[in-house]
Amino acid sequence: MSLENAVLDFRSDTFTQPSPGMREAMARAEVGDDVFREDPTVNKLEEQIAALFGREASMFVPSGTMANLIGIALHCRRGDEVIMERRTHSFSHEVGGGAALLGVLFNVLDSPDGIITPEQVRHVIRPTDVHEPVSRLVVLENTINLAGGRVVSVEQVRAFHALTREREMRLHMDGARIWNASVASGSPLAEYAGEVDTLSCCLSKGMGCPVGSMVIGDDAHIERARWYRKMLGGGMRQAGVLAACGLYAIEHNLPRLRDDHTQAAELAHGLRRILDDRHRVQEPETNILMVHTDSQATTEETLTVWYRLGIMALPLSDTMIRLVTHIDVPPGGAAEAIRRLEKNRSSRRGGKNM
Ligand SMILES: Cc1ncc(COP(=O)(O)O)c(C=O)c1O
Repeated sequence: MSLENAVLDFRSDTFTQPSPGMREAMARAEVGDDVFREDPTVNKLEEQIAALFGREASMFVPSGTMANLIGIALHCRRGDEVIMERRTHSFSHEVGGGAALLGVLFNVLDSPDGIITPEQVRHVIRPTDVHEPVSRLVVLENTINLAGGRVVSVEQVRAFHALTREREMRLHMDGARIWNASVASGSPLAEYAGEVDTLSCCLSKGMGCPVGSMVIGDDAHIERARWYRKMLGGGMRQAGVLAACGLYAIEHNLPRLRDDHTQAAELAHGLRRILDDRHRVQEPETNILMVHTDSQATTEETLTVWYRLGIMALPLSDTMIRLVTHIDVPPGGAAEAIRRLEKNRSSRRGGKNM
């Protein structure tokens, strides 16, 4: 299909289709029963991810939600407190699993940009007192989805590492899009992974895989994580057909992630020129672009026009529209979206600039 007729789907980097090359890798994958650790392709992926992140071990799981739940389970007992920013996915979009299934208490802190400071955390850490829950874990997300794909720097993570060490707490990172953080900051994945007790990453987001996330940590963590995965019903059998996608993505898709960041920046630049003052376009740091609006009516009106033009985006709240660039946005897709919007504006002459 030509670019002019293509639907440009910026709803999420989870909407990607496995490419022909990835499907071929799936078809060729050697498989075995992974619950018995006999799937050579899963074993290979787990080894490669551990090496890439400079940690002892990793484990393949079906989803980022399960990876984070296991991350919390590894560090917390029932009644323990987990501290994170309000927009963190583990609090806002994982169905309260930590509370429902693990019995932990979430203590959520606010920040203007999605990134809490160690000082904020220090203020809420509980004293050792028979009346109080134990403040056990800090969860950081990187990049921060609901803050517009913001990058947390290695230095920021290091400061949390120091604090959690000092207070005998633990640090877990939801690194669903750690790939994007690493590309944008220039800090290797292993530098990030060296500053946390455990982290998760998703193969099913910018990496273009249909399924799969990883839990990463030291040998003892991952051994125990295998028990939790089984308990949660995440023990898969011939999962090598899925792990093959991860291996393919590390080789072929990781090196192209910067293109997604470039297209997000192009979109931001164009939208700022086109949208009227009921909209504020946030500067993207990675592949996520937020457009803030003055009202729900504006959000609905804008999305309706975009959909008519074959441009899809997601409303994340009444006044926030999210656009995400990814491997299935064709080269030139951002420029094409802007071209359509500009054409629409000139054909409406004098109408509203959306
Ligand atoms: C930051 C972040 N963490 C975790 C997840 C959960 O991943 P999954 O949808 O695979 O459960 C998502 C999903 O969008 C996410 O954006």
